Amino acid sequence: MKEQIIILDFGSQYTQVIARRIRECQVYSTILPYDTPAAEIAKCRPSGIILSGGPCSVFDKKAPMPDPGIFKLKIPILGICYGLQVLAHSLKGKVERGLKREYGKGTLRLLDKSCPLFKKLPGRLQVWNSHSDKLTRLPKGFKAVATTENSDFAAVEDRRAQRYGLQFHPEVVHTPKGTQIIQNFVHGICGCGKNWTMSSYLDQAVAEIREQVGQDKVILGLSGGVDSSVAAALIHRAIGNQLTCIFVNNGLLRYREEHAVRELFADHFKMRLRYENATPLFLKKLKGVTHPERKRKIIGKAFIDVFRKATQKVGDARFLAQGTLYPDVIESVPIAGNPAALIKSHHNVGGLPKNMKFELLEPLKCLFKDEVRLLGLELGLPKAMVYRHPFPGPGLGVRILGEVTRERLRILKEADAIVLEEMKASGWYYKVWQAFAVLLPVKSVGVMGDERTYEYTIAVRVVESKDGMTADWVKMPYEVLEKMSNRIINEVNGANRVCLDISSKPPATIEWE
Ligand code: XMP
Repeated sequence: MKEQIIILDFGSQYTQVIARRIRECQVYSTILPYDTPAAEIAKCRPSGIILSGGPCSVFDKKAPMPDPGIFKLKIPILGICYGLQVLAHSLKGKVERGLKREYGKGTLRLLDKSCPLFKKLPGRLQVWNSHSDKLTRLPKGFKAVATTENSDFAAVEDRRAQRYGLQFHPEVVHTPKGTQIIQNFVHGICGCGKNWTMSSYLDQAVAEIREQVGQDKVILGLSGGVDSSVAAALIHRAIGNQLTCIFVNNGLLRYREEHAVRELFADHFKMRLRYENATPLFLKKLKGVTHPERKRKIIGKAFIDVFRKATQKVGDARFLAQGTLYPDVIESVPIAGNPAALIKSHHNVGGLPKNMKFELLEPLKCLFKDEVRLLGLELGLPKAMVYRHPFPGPGLGVRILGEVTRERLRILKEADAIVLEEMKASGWYYKVWQAFAVLLPVKSVGVMGDERTYEYTIAVRVVESKDGMTADWVKMPYEVLEKMSNRIINEVNGANRVCLDISSKPPATIEWE
């Protein structure tokens, strides 16, 4: 059985961050709901348990509490923030309602340098707090190992029973040495090795796919995005020609995208690739349509129709593969007041048909996005593909405001290619979340040589973001913007004006439609 740390989720917005930090220490981690029965946890034979933070107070009527059986398992436990209060409350210590919230940076002073949680760390540390209740009496067997300005029990331990608690958040970047604390817990206290790497996962995933698929056939909708591309390369590594990828060209792809995808997957990887050029169909359906939501619906529905027909042509496949990721499958904890509960995965990738009679093959469903990228590199996918920016399912259809026509598509594709080229040439591409061009259906007057022009406007959008939920516009150097603008106006026939989008999300969105 895989060596792992189990995180019981009490609804913190940082639960997934804890899981990622642990995996960055090359230890596998799994997130389970806070009330998972102790017997079920024991079956996974975890090397350690982490109790996450959460929005509640242990005094709330419906305060989430773990199965008390977890304290009998003789497995090291670390409680973080609310997790510490749960630990103390469950073991008969005393938690009191705080009158004021301790929020933001604090300085941790270590009282006991021998505490294994703080091995290799200095006596003073910057930490990040976000709590109001606090511990006022420790449970039997515990002692304080560190304090902050506002808390006598900022870090506590019962070393003999291997139970530890932190009032601050070691997982966030505002606790700069937090990763060392997590390493000390998983390697030092729980005794985990460094076994979780993408090369070891690759071997394991290949074996699992072979086992699940047997001699049957698999179909995969390849969009050219990171997740479906990595899933394709992984499944192909496992079962070769039993996999057929279907790649639908909806005519709304980036400049020469269809060539790049075919070159990489069909020519280089030698995969079975069914290429469906459905451009005429999509453009026909979009003719005269200007409303953003209607465009999205039409594009989504046409995709399903084309994809379904293509699957019939492939014939007798038993599995449909999807690039589902771990954040999509973590059971969310419905706790009142939990902001994490409100942040839903925003868009359904590609919107594949639900009523198709396939079994699902989801080989990435225990991976976070950064792990998928590393796995992609391990599989030999180029960096440019693995670290590419997100691209919306409806493609350029939502980046041409108003009606989508062939001419507008050509203009936008050419302008967008220039934006991307200049982002890459200046070294900015990999520093930002997304950079792209938008075509505004606004014509304005210009002058080119001796001639007056009356052409479209291109907006350049460059944003930084962690997850697409909020975003800031990027203050790009004027020289890079100047080059983009000059090149677009000189090289793209049909565009004579370029402007820069300087709106953040919220209140604007990243895409314009
Ligand atoms: P918005 O425009 O909502 O975009 O701020 C947030 C992120 O989601 C991407 N996006 C989509 N992705 N299908 C997708 O797969 C879609 O329909 C879609 N719409 C927006 C957008 O590019 C940004 O990264």
